[in-house]
Amino acid sequence: MGNIILTGDRPTGNLHLGHLVGSVRTRVKMQDEGNYDKMYIMIADSQALTDNFDNPKKVKENLLNVLIDYMSCGLDPEKVTFFIQSEVSELTELTFYYMNIVTFNRLKRNPTIKTELALRNFEGTLPVGFMCYPISQAADITAFKANIIPVGDDQLPMIEQANEIVDRFNSIYKCKVLRRCEAVLPETESSFRLPGIDGMAKMSKSLGNCIYLKDDSETVKKQVMKMYTDPNHINIGDPGKVEGNVVFTYLDSFCNDEHFAKYYPEFKNLDELKSAYQHGGIGDVKIKMFLYNILEEVLTPIRERRAELLKHDDAYFMDILKKGTAEARTVASKTVKEVKAAMLLNYFE
Ligand code: TRP
Repeated sequence: MGNIILTGDRPTGNLHLGHLVGSVRTRVKMQDEGNYDKMYIMIADSQALTDNFDNPKKVKENLLNVLIDYMSCGLDPEKVTFFIQSEVSELTELTFYYMNIVTFNRLKRNPTIKTELALRNFEGTLPVGFMCYPISQAADITAFKANIIPVGDDQLPMIEQANEIVDRFNSIYKCKVLRRCEAVLPETESSFRLPGIDGMAKMSKSLGNCIYLKDDSETVKKQVMKMYTDPNHINIGDPGKVEGNVVFTYLDSFCNDEHFAKYYPEFKNLDELKSAYQHGGIGDVKIKMFLYNILEEVLTPIRERRAELLKHDDAYFMDILKKGTAEARTVASKTVKEVKAAMLLNYFE
């Protein structure tokens, strides 16, 4: 079997720079390299409901936002199958069967789940569905026999758990129905998790610390100018800190030597700029303008594609999802048949 790529995002808001460097860039690259038999991108609306069950409107509203963000980045429905998770009911069916081979203790040990539980303060109101989303994610992956999963590093525990399910299932039911998978992370470690512009670990809409792919030039400039740098770097001559300085974290992820030639010819590369900054003599506005120029270079083609795409009405985008979803269902239902047969649930055959 050839390479099958599958990945997705929860439709809970527009995509931001963190998504771009965390996984969308890798997906575009994979799409363009073409080293795969199939590439699926799923809009994980059912998963989004596991912690937004009381706000279905938010999930619905963001469905097309996310699709349009993807396509603005260059993901192409001619090459990629986009589909809606909730419309492939086979995924729910698989989740139910996999639940039997995962212990509750194992779910509680999943590091991503642990972090999210701490963040969300569920206390006595923790929904069972939320705890089970790693199982549902295993269903998403295995239903398509996907072996390559381009995601951010926060998803590694999900991939690990999916592989455990694959191994247990194949071993218990003495079959080779399910396929193991592998995460593909961003090329540079600085891109694993881009902090918010305030230096907080997570970008979130409610904190207002994101730069969105759809932001206009002026908004991007404002956000860059607000970025957290080094609070002790008060006068230009003061030595500045690079670690924890958001501008440098973003530069780590976005800039290359050509950007220096173009926008900052006093330096050859980021190492030189960093040591000059640490020494003292470089103002924050200067490095922020440099970053802003680079971000504009990244965001301009995305904005141009978006403007073209937005000439279409919603029906055009829904049609893309409809076609992709129909295709996805055909594939997933084949896997469900195999899974059920392995569990001897094939009475009428
Ligand atoms: N958990 C992923 C996220 O929050 C979304 C997702 C759901 C996913 N199912 C998936 C990613 C399967 C990769 C593969 O972004």
